[in-house]
Amino acid sequence: MRRGTVIFLVISLIILGVLVNAFSTLIALLFEKGGATPIDPSEIPLPGSDLSANGTQLIPKIIHQTYINATIPNKWQEGQQACVDLHDDYEYILWTDEKSRDFIATEYSWFLETFDSYPFPIQRADSIRYFVLDFYGGIYIDLDDGCNRPLDPLLNYPAWLRRTVPTGISNDAMGSVPHHPFFRKVIESLEYYNRSWVLPYITVMYSTGPLFLSVLWVEYLRVDPAPEDAVRLLMPAEYKGHDYSFFNISKGSSWHGKDAQTIFWMGKHWFLLTVAGFLIAGVIGGCLWWVWSSCVMNAGMTSNGKGGKRRPWGLWRRLSGGKGRYELVERMA
Ligand SMILES: *[C@@H]1O[C@H](CO)[C@@H](O)[C@H](O)[C@H]1NC(C)=O
Repeated sequence: MRRGTVIFLVISLIILGVLVNAFSTLIALLFEKGGATPIDPSEIPLPGSDLSANGTQLIPKIIHQTYINATIPNKWQEGQQACVDLHDDYEYILWTDEKSRDFIATEYSWFLETFDSYPFPIQRADSIRYFVLDFYGGIYIDLDDGCNRPLDPLLNYPAWLRRTVPTGISNDAMGSVPHHPFFRKVIESLEYYNRSWVLPYITVMYSTGPLFLSVLWVEYLRVDPAPEDAVRLLMPAEYKGHDYSFFNISKGSSWHGKDAQTIFWMGKHWFLLTVAGFLIAGVIGGCLWWVWSSCVMNAGMTSNGKGGKRRPWGLWRRLSGGKGRYELVERMA
């Protein structure tokens, strides 16, 4: 075989391996047994009922949110204010870009280099929430998730994540005790997952976002955590859309903050977009293969004076040992 062919095959195999590896994660997500740890509606008292008899508070009363700076856009102010007003016995911390970086530099300096190196600001916004949950514990809430009722019933679990449909979890609302083994695993995995996947969307989702978190969560379930290390799931009906739901998603009708809206939207439809992203990557790969085999390989044949017709399946014919076989034999001899 020609050297060009070998190199191309090796590169293709590597790319294929990476894609299959990535797809297998998605396939594993489709079969995840996450349904095994939902928060049952019966565990959650109706709004306004007496909470004192219901379980033991584990998660500290702290609400974390993130934004670029302390100037919250109008469209999210109402939701943010609802979270503050419904929880006057909670500490409220807004993690601005500056405050986030200072916090990482002080408490997790081993991560600062990675934190600074992220090409997309949303990767810093994603990762900071895992660190503050590890350090302080509490409940993290995206700014476009306004509060609909007091979160107290959600303090009775060691940790919880929000279930997404059709699979996986999101990172827009989650709660934890400090130093929970799941969030420890998450922060310790960030460096390893800090890779570029060419498409910005996949890079963000798989390095710090919901896909990254879902993969770690599936891995975490495999070790069958003890009850005190459990991660429970907030199911869709308890998340939004009913008067007993905890959150109230703002539509974001405002004219500014388009980027942020897009990012929130992507975070909520991450599974669909990820599958689409991998399909696009596959199609691009297929096109490259086609271009390579129709131009480069056949050009080689042409210059050799044999099998001169340009055909997209030229490479396939040569490898599958059709009419082109004698050429290979000739070349190797
Ligand atoms: C906060 O960030 C927004 C968006 O980048 C910007 O328009 C605004 O001027 C900033 N506010 C302050 C006080 O820096």
